[in-house]
Amino acid sequence: MSERPTKPVLRVLEGEALWPPPIWIMRQAGRYLPEYRAVRAEAGSFLDLCYTPRLAAEVTLQPIRRFGFDAAILFSDILVIPHALGQDVRFVENEGPKLDPVTEAADLGRIAEDLPPERLAPVFETLERLRAALPAETTLLGFCGAPFTVASYMIAGKGTPDQAPARLTAYRDPAFMAALIGRLVAASTAYLIRQVDAGAEAVQIFESFGAALPPALFRPLSLEPIGRIVRDLKAARPQARVIVFVRGGGAHLSAFAEEGIGDALALDWTLDAARVRAALPAGLATQGNLDPLALIAGGEALDRGVDRVLEAVRGRPHVFNLGHGIQPETPVEHVGRLVARVREAA
Ligand code: CP3
Repeated sequence: MSERPTKPVLRVLEGEALWPPPIWIMRQAGRYLPEYRAVRAEAGSFLDLCYTPRLAAEVTLQPIRRFGFDAAILFSDILVIPHALGQDVRFVENEGPKLDPVTEAADLGRIAEDLPPERLAPVFETLERLRAALPAETTLLGFCGAPFTVASYMIAGKGTPDQAPARLTAYRDPAFMAALIGRLVAASTAYLIRQVDAGAEAVQIFESFGAALPPALFRPLSLEPIGRIVRDLKAARPQARVIVFVRGGGAHLSAFAEEGIGDALALDWTLDAARVRAALPAGLATQGNLDPLALIAGGEALDRGVDRVLEAVRGRPHVFNLGHGIQPETPVEHVGRLVARVREAA
């Protein structure tokens, strides 16, 4: 029998409403922090930082030390999966990720069928270090990208407006698309199981590009693959908790809820959290959904935004967060103000 969790984020993921809600923020380790920029410079490349456990653990801990967030998210990237599967992945300064495109069935020969876990050994070591270093009340989160989001980078070789190359591929060569998504489901499930074994208590699945998919493609390319990952992870590691973030996926939230995919659904900043909460089962946790730009603006705009989210979720199981990742230009003091306002909520 499992014991009831005592960590605030885990309690909310089990359906308990806490007041004030626990808080962490997406991309909380990153360039808005001067101490991150210093370690990043020491590491050399971004991937070197991801694959050096001492440094990756250090940057994961930086925002915990500064703000006492209730969760620490593993420092890594969603693109370590294509990298581990054998695709060439680089992060180019001021341009973002660049990959060797995989566009047709023949290219799958370059992509491993199964995840070679030893290629990601540094990531698991980072989690082990974090589990030992974190305060007792802080939840350790792992993560991966959802198959469609990762596939869209693999196919285009870079970020693209509305993920047009991946969508076109889905129409022109559905068999290839299904094969690629299938490999990513298997690799992501294996990866998350290993993350849990290394100390992750909950994981977040990032479908950053969910908004690009038309309704007929959303189920086969997003909802269904995410559902398979969650089911297979929980079958293998029943204690694992899962947060599903589908950016732009507001129209599909009820389907995720009805099909029991995820212990929490993360809401992007375009959603009215009060309406969403009213439409979801009372015991299903949510996360979010302050506009990251309100955090850049600070002052009154920030306070009003925070209060609005708080009012919307009062009495419901909710983890306070942004509606998408924190941006590099965010003033550090604004993050302190945000945390104080949530923690002082009466
Ligand atoms: O949240 C955290 O603090 C943990 C670390 C984390 C990173 N990326 C670090 C990172 C997480 C959870 C991610 C997820 C990720 N990566 C997503 C999904 C979440 C989202 O924001 O939608 C996506 C789409 C990526 C792909 C990616 N990685 C892009 C497009 C870029 C370049 C754009 C940018 O912001 O520079 C990255 C690089 C990256 N990943 C950085 C960080 C801190 C910046 C790189 C640097 O420090 O030079």
